[in-house]
Amino acid sequence: MGVKDLLNRLKQNKEDKSEAKSHYLTGKEVREIAKANAKEMRRLEKEKRRKVPQEEFMSQMKDDNNILEIEDLHSYFFTDQGVVKAVNGVTFSIPVNSTVGVVGESGCGKSVTAMSVMRLLQGPTGQIVSGSIRFKAYDYKRDQDGKFVPIYEKDENGEVVQEFDPKTKKNVPKISGYEKVEAVYDIAKMPIHEMYRLRGRQISMVFQEPMTSLNPVFTIGNQLDEVVLLHIPGSTKESAKKRSIEMLNMVGIAMPERVYASYPHELSGGMRQRVMIAMALACEPRLIIADEPTTALDVTIQAQVLDLFNDLKTKINGSILLITHDLGVIAEMADYVVVMYAGRIIEQGTALEIFRNPLHPYTQGLQKSKPTMKSSSDTLYNIPGNVPNPINMPNHCYFKERCRSCIDKCSGEYPCMHQVSPTHFVACHLYESKED
Ligand SMILES: Nc1ncnc2c1ncn2[C@@H]1O[C@H](COP(=O)(O)OP(=O)(O)OP(=O)(O)O)[C@@H](O)[C@H]1O
Ligand code: SF4
Ligand SMILES: [Mg+2]
Repeated sequence: MGVKDLLNRLKQNKEDKSEAKSHYLTGKEVREIAKANAKEMRRLEKEKRRKVPQEEFMSQMKDDNNILEIEDLHSYFFTDQGVVKAVNGVTFSIPVNSTVGVVGESGCGKSVTAMSVMRLLQGPTGQIVSGSIRFKAYDYKRDQDGKFVPIYEKDENGEVVQEFDPKTKKNVPKISGYEKVEAVYDIAKMPIHEMYRLRGRQISMVFQEPMTSLNPVFTIGNQLDEVVLLHIPGSTKESAKKRSIEMLNMVGIAMPERVYASYPHELSGGMRQRVMIAMALACEPRLIIADEPTTALDVTIQAQVLDLFNDLKTKINGSILLITHDLGVIAEMADYVVVMYAGRIIEQGTALEIFRNPLHPYTQGLQKSKPTMKSSSDTLYNIPGNVPNPINMPNHCYFKERCRSCIDKCSGEYPCMHQVSPTHFVACHLYESKED
């Protein structure tokens, strides 16, 4: 090692030590942070559990073609070391009947965004602090007593069909379904106990690891039936079983009756993931959130599951929010792509725009680091450096320390979102127009 190298290393060590010192918290500071956090968490928990009339969380979509609109969402974790701004001002929309892919490296806030939409952030530390999540839902209509409004079956003369009710031993009108109404809810403002209207029935989620999401002590049939019985009004044990088998068939399981009677451990990984998808689809949700749905699967099963998602999107006319760090999966599936970095969106556009013309240096780095048939381990590109500490985010661009295209302006304020085409946006000083 030369003298120059040695001096550089000593300088680096000194910098590391002073940085470590600046992250060190005294006992007093930790107590102060904990006290401030406790106060804020109490306030947000109270807000979450309040009882309010429906009008308070009803909203309007900005664009009627969207099924979901996330606007300036902030979801934080209140830890003893400080506040982790896991999602820090995220704004994007999902149009009806399309797939939006969210990419970004580990820890950038993809899952926290999804969990915020489902209102499944682990409280009291994890909280939605501000922002809107507008969702266009089809809800079952209720009468003044809170009961679902039935639709009665009619014969060709328009007369209501009667059927014998063994309970009351009388003829009663035959119910063919329940009335639905379209309503826009702001999920971020919804009290947590109202989420039953949406979770499972309107928005469902497929998790990364099917084995941990299925209950090992109940049969697949039992778990599928439960979803139907809970969410579809008027369903009976028989109708739930029929629906469950129908769903298993729909996701390409060859012997649905056998799988219906099996326990999760008796199935392969691919089959379990199919069961999870069947469960997510049982109530024909308008939006499916798939968080790394294929990461735990081998490549052939991965391709089958992706085909299945594409197929089902058309069949149920739904939309998909697909979270992954696999660019190949995004290229195959997504209509629109959102690229996240350290809790913020740094670029978004159509899949074609992001893959053909990536603008942000981070997106360009992501594309370059994708292994190809030609790349060997020596030539595989990696983005140097690390994501900044989420508790002490800098005021300037979060990617600055890793960026090779840095300009003077990059040491200034965090860059705003610049529009480069009707659908393509990028947060980088390199794309500022003269008017900005
Ligand atoms: N329970 C928690 N307490 C504190 N911080 C958390 C908690 N859960 C997540 N975080 C932080 O939130 C940030 C975003 O996490 P998230 O799980 O959304 O990442 P991700 O993009 O889904 O990553 P991956 O690709 O690894 O799944 C991370 O910095 C993480 O440290
Ligand atoms: S704003 Fe500057 S530092 Fe950030 S990505 Fe763009 S060029 Fe790089
Ligand atoms: Mg995740």
